[in-house]
Amino acid sequence: MRILVTGGAGFIGSHTCVSLLESGYEVAVLDNYVNSSPAAVAAIEQITGKKVLAYEVDLLDLEAVQAVFQKDHFDGVIHFAGLKAVGESVSKPLEYYHNNITGSLNLCRAMREADCKVLVFSSSATVYGPVNPIPYVEGMPTSATSPYGWTKVMIEQMLTDLAATDPAWSISLLRYFNPVGAHESGLIGEAPNGIPNNLMPYIAKVATGELPYLRVFGGDYDTPDGTGVRDYIHVMDLAEGHVKALEYALSHTGVEAVNLGSGKGTSVLELFHAYERACGKELAYQICPRRAGDLPAFWADPRKAEALYHWHTTRDLDSMCRDSWRFTSSHMG
Ligand code: NAD
Ligand code: UFG
Repeated sequence: MRILVTGGAGFIGSHTCVSLLESGYEVAVLDNYVNSSPAAVAAIEQITGKKVLAYEVDLLDLEAVQAVFQKDHFDGVIHFAGLKAVGESVSKPLEYYHNNITGSLNLCRAMREADCKVLVFSSSATVYGPVNPIPYVEGMPTSATSPYGWTKVMIEQMLTDLAATDPAWSISLLRYFNPVGAHESGLIGEAPNGIPNNLMPYIAKVATGELPYLRVFGGDYDTPDGTGVRDYIHVMDLAEGHVKALEYALSHTGVEAVNLGSGKGTSVLELFHAYERACGKELAYQICPRRAGDLPAFWADPRKAEALYHWHTTRDLDSMCRDSWRFTSSHMG
């Protein structure tokens, strides 16, 4: 079976391509490399020893997307391509709505024309908004607090409406919690440009000496150690979750929203100390004011993924940090 992976050169997409190839699927990547590079495709080939077809295409270019579906037959699509920086989405809402929503509309249009109706979509725990109780369960009402988050809520709605028009559609809305880590080869991982927004890439740069210390955003939350709590998930667990979701989608129809998380909360300081163990040095941090818009704590109720996909996370916090550090330390300088 051949699967098209939009955003397949990105962080989560590249790891998912590895899992797909290792599970026997053929893979084609569609990416405009706005936040990645063709080197990731070469690394996927190096890890797996298998060939990957790469289309350098912008999802905003409808004709180019249609041409991909005219050229090749795909049994399903995993759709990662999108812009993802929450803070940037606040200052560039139109760019975010256009890229994420128009890109998804173009993809769905081309898929419908090609009669390819199996779609796995990258959603986010951010669709649970600011008021739901934890742990988050799929049936809870969705909302958002940033333009980025609203693109996910809106695309989920659009895909649900599309599936209602034709019972042949099979659509998975995968709500990721906090993906971290890297492939154990150290060949692919997360390499944000500039100063990272997210916790683990920031700690990684403190460990390399590029940044002097971690700013811990808030030490007075109502959590066990006062710092924010999240559900961190190893990117390879997430990648394997996509293969399971795809298998399910290929043999069912309709729409399913499914959490991909561990079900376990970890605080900023717990993750920080795990990273110190992984890199073998003591690192510096300072407790700073809370970051605007942050929630104190959230994690997944992962039972639906277990029930539908027979999937759960298997990699612990120490492996997440070890694999992140292996990737980071081998890509320094
Ligand atoms: P990423 O930026 O590494 O990957 C996204 C990829 O999409 C990049 O390779 C980029 O070049 C490509 N892309 C963006 N716009 C495109 C367009 N118009 N046409 C073609 N390609 C385009 O991000 P990631 O962390 O791998 O995230 C993948 C998906 O998962 C995104 O949709 C993101 O919103 C979602 N997600 C990520 C997280 C996270 O913490 N990383 C959490 C929840 C959801
Ligand atoms: N944090 C720090 N210092 C930093 C960075 C983060 O203390 O330098 C803290 C945050 O305050 C938070 C925790 O580390 O308590 C995790 O923060 P991240 O920025 O890594 O992740 P978020 O949970 O804020 O955001 C993630 C994704 C978003 C998504 C959101 C909800 O990055 O895309 O989860 O699903 F919208």
